[in-house]
Amino acid sequence: MMEKKEHRSVLLVDDETDIREVLAISLRDMGYEVLEAENGEKALALFREKAPLIVLTDIKMPGMDGIEILKRIKHENPYAQVIMITGHGDTDIAVKSLKYEAIDFITKPISNDSLEIALARANEKILTQELLCRYTENLENLVREKISLQDHLSSLGGMIGSISHSIKGLLTRLDGGLYLVESAVKKEDKARLSEGLDILKLTIDRIKKMIFDILYSSKERKLQIAPIPTLKFAEDVADIAEQKALPHGIRMIREFGRAPDRFMADAEDIRSALINILDNAVDACTEDLSKKNHEINFIIREDAGHIIFEIRDNGIGMDRETLEKIFNLFFSSKQSKGTGFGLFISKTIIRSHGGEINVRSAKGKGTVIHVRLPKDIT
Ligand SMILES: Nc1ncnc2c1ncn2[C@@H]1O[C@H](COP(=O)(O)OP(=O)(O)O)[C@@H](O)[C@H]1O
Ligand SMILES: [Mg+2]
Repeated sequence: MMEKKEHRSVLLVDDETDIREVLAISLRDMGYEVLEAENGEKALALFREKAPLIVLTDIKMPGMDGIEILKRIKHENPYAQVIMITGHGDTDIAVKSLKYEAIDFITKPISNDSLEIALARANEKILTQELLCRYTENLENLVREKISLQDHLSSLGGMIGSISHSIKGLLTRLDGGLYLVESAVKKEDKARLSEGLDILKLTIDRIKKMIFDILYSSKERKLQIAPIPTLKFAEDVADIAEQKALPHGIRMIREFGRAPDRFMADAEDIRSALINILDNAVDACTEDLSKKNHEINFIIREDAGHIIFEIRDNGIGMDRETLEKIFNLFFSSKQSKGTGFGLFISKTIIRSHGGEINVRSAKGKGTVIHVRLPKDIT
């Protein structure tokens, strides 16, 4: 407590210079910094400027009296402690001042003892308030932590449920593949053997992708923001997606004419985000048996300090119900061919760059995915 007192300042308000001087000396001797005011206006101005937590004020003064000062100070900062100085016979006013939450009152002539006792009370009250504040803050932090822990646990629960479900599906496929291989070996049936091996290979690929996606979505990477030359980056991304599209006769149309020269982002992250979206566009086209010619437009342009990536496909499209769920972790309409990770990861990445992703789609017609990133984040 002593340590604290030394740093504390006291605002001393009295219209009588002599009393102020004597009191100021005593207060400085006790280790306080003293701010002096000879009337209410000055006192309030000093209180606002220096924010002392202890105020010592005479009750009877011309102009604004001590009770008024007390009321205004308590109104401005309820934590400030006001000690009233009263003359003989002012008991009524002194008691009234307690009603307005003065911490104590001392009577003139002021003895050092009564001054010290009043100051000790004020200091103790301030300390208790500070402790209470800190406890409340800690408590609030604890409650916040608990809530976020609960959120994590419940999403973890959901995640484990979904993963188990996917793994069960994949195991069934592995069993099926293995059965084919075993019976093919017994019967020396080459066609059956290669059928079984194909199933095993495909399933193993899915497992690999799933594990990779789980790892990607669970690690908290720090963004590696650097300037990215747009054209080269875009051509690379389009090349990767095209490898998947070409065997199905899907045309990939690149429209990079209005792209900015460069933009700031984590190249690896944004590449993954875009490839997930382009992969989905390819899937949507291959699943669509109603049309002959399929194409994907990959458009990049600049708009008001943002870089826009637009991926349009004329594949199967989506109904409203599907559209509402596509960003949910594990939502997939592709059965064992999908993991439901792609768009969840894309959205996480885009958000972490301060960007946004929007989708328009019509069942049977196609889908437009719109990604908007600030061009120059640091
Ligand atoms: N371009 C698209 N056209 C039609 N449906 C789409 C498209 N992109 C995403 N979807 C839907 O959103 C779902 C979730 O996509 P995603 O998170 O990438 O998971 P996955 O591709 O593993 O199914 C897909 O299963 C599909 O139903
Ligand atoms: Mg996908």
